[in-house]
Amino acid sequence: MDKMETKSGAEDANELVPEIGEHLMVKRSDNTWHSAEVIEMRSNSCENGRQEYYVHYDGFNRRLDEWVGSDRFDSCKTANGSAGDVTKTGETTGGGAGDAVAKSGSGGGGAAQHMCLASVDSIDGTDRKITRNQKRKHDEINHIQKTLAEMDPTTAALEREHEAITKVKYVDRIQFGKYEIDCWYFSPFPEEYGKQPKLWICEYCLKYMRLEKTYRYHQSDCCWRQPQGKEIYRKSTISVYEVDGRDHKIYCQNLCLLAKLFLDHKTLFFDVEPFIFYILCEVDKHGAHIVGYFSKEKESPDGNNLACILTLPPYQRKGYGKFLIAFSYELSKLEQSVGSPEKPLSDLGKLSYRSYWSWILLEILRDFRGVLSIRDLSQMTSITQNDIIGTLQSLNMVKYWKGQHVICVTPKLVEEHLKSAQYKRPRLTVENGCLRWSPPKKQSKSGKK
Ligand code: ACO
Ligand code: ZN
Repeated sequence: MDKMETKSGAEDANELVPEIGEHLMVKRSDNTWHSAEVIEMRSNSCENGRQEYYVHYDGFNRRLDEWVGSDRFDSCKTANGSAGDVTKTGETTGGGAGDAVAKSGSGGGGAAQHMCLASVDSIDGTDRKITRNQKRKHDEINHIQKTLAEMDPTTAALEREHEAITKVKYVDRIQFGKYEIDCWYFSPFPEEYGKQPKLWICEYCLKYMRLEKTYRYHQSDCCWRQPQGKEIYRKSTISVYEVDGRDHKIYCQNLCLLAKLFLDHKTLFFDVEPFIFYILCEVDKHGAHIVGYFSKEKESPDGNNLACILTLPPYQRKGYGKFLIAFSYELSKLEQSVGSPEKPLSDLGKLSYRSYWSWILLEILRDFRGVLSIRDLSQMTSITQNDIIGTLQSLNMVKYWKGQHVICVTPKLVEEHLKSAQYKRPRLTVENGCLRWSPPKKQSKSGKK
């Protein structure tokens, strides 16, 4: 297709012409060079038809995949087969798997293992796809060890299909209120919108548009200045709205499409009726600006008290994620039930939950005198016993004794953890007095505990 045209046109200029499937050295926005696979090409209508290439950096989370111009490739094609070149990639990334997460927000990420796998990629031509897929699974989905080969065949097939569908994020930027935001993952906007490099989204009603012109007109026309639904929490400039997927279907579908740009493994888009959405806003004189949200099933057979959670990138790492998590547990407390987030958790989701759970449990353990069981902790916090055990294990505070998990702490150990830089007091806490909410009446009789 246009791949051929580009090739013949550029060969005269003696320029590198990347081809789909090739592994080349690509310069990232932080000026470091990494081996990357060319996955797709396009001519970008928003950039005067500039020829662009969609690349996946070997061994990195897919949210770092991006569209780049030919100027970002190393004209010597160094990544294409020599192990030595791949080592160059490894040197710039370094670190362990944990680092991969820590650096990803600022654009880095990668691990020593990636370097080895990348060399396997380039040496062993036949198996390289599987090897890379396995690695992706390892890093992105399970975050632990399970590879495609270890999954049951159905899960593995679903995972492969998911990868194939979500590989290329055509919409790689959005204008959202005053922010232009780089997108992380594919989202299934309808045909003519889904292939657009940039979408314009109304920050109030979440309508998406292809053209700036339409967006400007809509801004003067849109009558919304806050999320649809009911305000159930207000403290100073922080506000939370409750929106029922049945009552505000289009709004909630638009929210899901927007959220998918930053969520890898969630599939809810059109069937929003069984969910309630809790929208967190920062309020100023212009209106209530959405910062993030979480969704929750009206009835969860798996006992989940949260389905999806998102903080929009311009607002991340300010404490809003943990506020939303805390909020989801406050609702569970009022429902007198326990709950857990829907699995799988993303790498960032896992970090946020771990941080929240650790803080809550350490606070209780510090102040409590007497005997406390895991069940007591669960009743006090609405966190499931499993999540409590996992957290206490990571804090080295639980023993398995006579077939049971037993909390095993000393005040000194609690203090040490609380003093460590890892456990900072949350920046934003949920003030119960500001929450005006009571559990909805269940329609069926299957109210769970
Ligand atoms: N790198 C390293 N650590 C991070 C990063 C990052 N990029 N982002 C958050 N964290 C850690 C922080 O250490 C923080 O803990 P600390 O306060 O103890 O330091 C903790 O995560 C939470 O930080 P917050 O500021 O409260 O969370 P934030 O507002 O950034 O939101 C969230 C976290 C919602 C996970 C956000 O990263 C996000 O929207 N990610 C994309 C969508 C996603 O992955 N959602 C979870 C999917 S799983 C599910 O939906 C059930
Ligand atoms: Zn609008």
